[in-house]
Amino acid sequence: MMVDVLLGLQWGDEGKGKIVDYFAPGYDIIARFQGGPNAGHTLYVNGNKVVLHQIPSGIFHANTVNLIGSGVVLDAVTLRKEAEKVAAFGIDCRKNLFISERTQLIVPTHRALDKASEMSKGESKIGSTLKGIGPAYMDKTGRNGLRVGDLLDKNFTTQYIKLRLKHQRLLDSFGFQEDISSWEEEFFEAIEFMRELKVVNGEYFINDRISKGSKVLAEGAQGSMLDVDFGTFPFVTSSNTISAGVCTGLGVAPQRIREVIGVTKAYCTRVGSGPFPTELNDETGEQLRKVGSEFGATTGRPRRCGWIDLVALNLACMINGVTQLVMTKADVLDGFETLQVCEEYVIAGRSTREVPYQMMKQEIVPQYRSFPGWKTDISTLKSESELPEKMKAYIQHINQYLGVPVKYISNGPGRDQIILS
Ligand code: GDP
Ligand code: IMO
Ligand code: MG
Repeated sequence: MMVDVLLGLQWGDEGKGKIVDYFAPGYDIIARFQGGPNAGHTLYVNGNKVVLHQIPSGIFHANTVNLIGSGVVLDAVTLRKEAEKVAAFGIDCRKNLFISERTQLIVPTHRALDKASEMSKGESKIGSTLKGIGPAYMDKTGRNGLRVGDLLDKNFTTQYIKLRLKHQRLLDSFGFQEDISSWEEEFFEAIEFMRELKVVNGEYFINDRISKGSKVLAEGAQGSMLDVDFGTFPFVTSSNTISAGVCTGLGVAPQRIREVIGVTKAYCTRVGSGPFPTELNDETGEQLRKVGSEFGATTGRPRRCGWIDLVALNLACMINGVTQLVMTKADVLDGFETLQVCEEYVIAGRSTREVPYQMMKQEIVPQYRSFPGWKTDISTLKSESELPEKMKAYIQHINQYLGVPVKYISNGPGRDQIILS
């Protein structure tokens, strides 16, 4: 039994990439189990910033196997570009990257369909990253999609054309007219590149290695509040971002799972549309965005910012079975006079600690508890004993509310900026 899971507990961008990179030396395999190039995981390699979209965040550790699991949707074009990016650091993806045969492919018309669908929604758009995620997962559950294993089939092009024709009819119905022929050219070049990579029977690959004692860290993408079943539907992504997604996305049994490491920012952000009860549309929100450099790693969009939401985090801890927390971006709060923590929602005059099944049709008024800010630069601190008392009180309260310990505090974007608590 040796699969640990690391995933985001909010609306994504919690700092998963940095934390996976930090933990990677303790594991033999880092495996992505869901999502696709909508993810943007930032890490620093020898002081250089790298953003990964498709490749697991263990890629910079030479002895770590990186697996793209069957639950992922894979854009060959992004993968190829990313492989070139990591090659500049002397990493050859043909050596330590493995891809499951069952992984679904994102084709150019999936991206076009994503765009057409969002345009048709107007004001009520999801705010998708437009990477083709929704349409690719629709083709998976609709049983039409192409998989990585199909690349080796001599009929691949015929299968592709059949799917494209189906998509074209849908695009016509949306009135979508953009010329995407250059996307197709890139796609076929990238497919040639993918044929050089190690494609494996993923579920046997991972289970064999687990049986032989390998330690696996499953790397989540997005966040629990973007989960297709338990997130803020319909403003979610199209996969199961929660720990249950590890079983379906890698083919490992639930008994294999040991620690579930939940990553949360010390505050909260969201990119794209949808409910966000603790959002701050004021100077404080602006300050969080500025100090935290809160701009999307995939799309560059400004992230919406607000206070930490314990009601939503409590749901995330419950449905994931979180056993330990990592709190990131604690340093971003260094300069704030007062901090707020949301403990309850008031909906139609009634207090609740439950996240309602839909959050758009009724006003949700967050109820806050205030904490004095610590007003100390924590970015250079190395141990828990050095942390300001006011910060300890803030974290202690979060521990108690959630009933899960904060085990690590990240105090800067660098690999070594992390404190064991
Ligand atoms: P992910 O999608 O969860 O991997 O997160 P992103 O990479 O999209 O966004 C997190 C951002 O915060 C990145 O720019 C990281 O470099 C940065 N970051 C991560 N941890 C910390 C931290 O503890 N403090 C600060 N200031 N920045 C951090
Ligand atoms: P990482 O892994 C933050 C958001 C989009 C949009 C919604 C649906 O970096 O944390 P999609 O492209 O999946 O159709 O978009 O989900 N979203 C993310 N937000 N971080 C991400 O990934 C995200 N991936 C998707 O902004 O609101
Ligand atoms: Mg991100």
